Amino acid sequence: MTDYLASRLRGFETTIFAEMSALAVRTGAINLGQGFPDADGPAEVADAAIAAIRAGHNQYPPGIGIPELRHAIAAHQQRFYGLAFDPEDEVLVTAGATEGIAASLLALCEPGDEVVMFEPYYDSYAACTALAGATRRVVTLRTPDYSFEPDELTAAITNRTRLLLLNSPHNPTGKVFTREELELIARLCVEHDLIAVTDEVYEHLVFDGEHLPLATLPGMRDRTVTISSGGKTFSFTGWKIGWVCAAPALVAAVRTVKQFLTFVNGAPFQHAIAHALTFDDDFFRTFVDDMRTKRDRLCDGLTAAGFDVFEPAGTYFVTTDISPFGETDGATFCRALPERCGVVAVPNVVFYDDEDAGRSLVRFTFCKRLDVLDEAVGRLRTLATVAP
Ligand SMILES: Cc1ncc(COP(=O)(O)O)c(C=O)c1O
Repeated sequence: MTDYLASRLRGFETTIFAEMSALAVRTGAINLGQGFPDADGPAEVADAAIAAIRAGHNQYPPGIGIPELRHAIAAHQQRFYGLAFDPEDEVLVTAGATEGIAASLLALCEPGDEVVMFEPYYDSYAACTALAGATRRVVTLRTPDYSFEPDELTAAITNRTRLLLLNSPHNPTGKVFTREELELIARLCVEHDLIAVTDEVYEHLVFDGEHLPLATLPGMRDRTVTISSGGKTFSFTGWKIGWVCAAPALVAAVRTVKQFLTFVNGAPFQHAIAHALTFDDDFFRTFVDDMRTKRDRLCDGLTAAGFDVFEPAGTYFVTTDISPFGETDGATFCRALPERCGVVAVPNVVFYDDEDAGRSLVRFTFCKRLDVLDEAVGRLRTLATVAP
């Protein structure tokens, strides 16, 4: 039985974020590994959650989410992207984007189906594809600009491909897929009659270029499951209020699975995120401007410390190459980093099937206070003089 369990779980034992955050706690190091802000989001949103608790919104909410939130999500999609979704049957509230992704893959894939995704990929994609009994087909985004070969993408699509999973803005690279890239992806989805599942949790964290939901491209509105959440945008990652927007048949399929995963979650937080989604444009502008300042501060600091830095166009992560330190193994580097200089980072290799493509890459997050980033950079500057 132990052998059976070990073989069943191989490769998915502990997420790298849990491992590295535990290392940060154990060593007292600055945690630039896991992507959570070190300051809460707006007090007004926290107050809305407290008010919702006091008002008695503490029992199971409706399975598809409270109407106020579904309407706010639909209004958000219309306001930012001109996408019209009916809050009654085209919007579903989920336990974070994570559940939206899991429920979509479980609902839409059958054993033997193939799922095309880009690597490096967010770790839950591989796990949920495996849970669905499907197989992943991976297309590599390559440094320095994280572009991909159109031929590689075309070749990854076979007659078993059921869906394409896209994350833009992209974790861990910070890549924001361009209109041309999205047009190619959309054309292939239409040509091969694929469903697209998009993870857009960093939609409001774009520094260069613009975020274009795949669903806005010709032929994509009714074959795309658009997933996002309030965690990153409003800096309440622990609340896990996410959502799925799609055509009624797709939402119905995802909802069928979702009801047996969590059924519902976070009743009072749904009220608070519904309120947050109505914030004016200034809120979203200030949010991205503040994060751009942090991006620039950390990128400059990492460059000065000797890393090769791939400046991100979006998200709150920056990927670096550790080769300038004469090192090639990011996993070894990250496990030693807390002892060497008191900083935690994440090795990108865990997001790759082609481990050679990601071996020397290391990810840092910059969703921390500026003084914390400065302190981390100060510590990292000692790297060049501290032996591995
Ligand atoms: C690409 C990506 N998708 C999904 C998530 C999880 O989103 P949520 O907290 O809403 O489940 C994260 C969190 O780090 C992420 O980076």
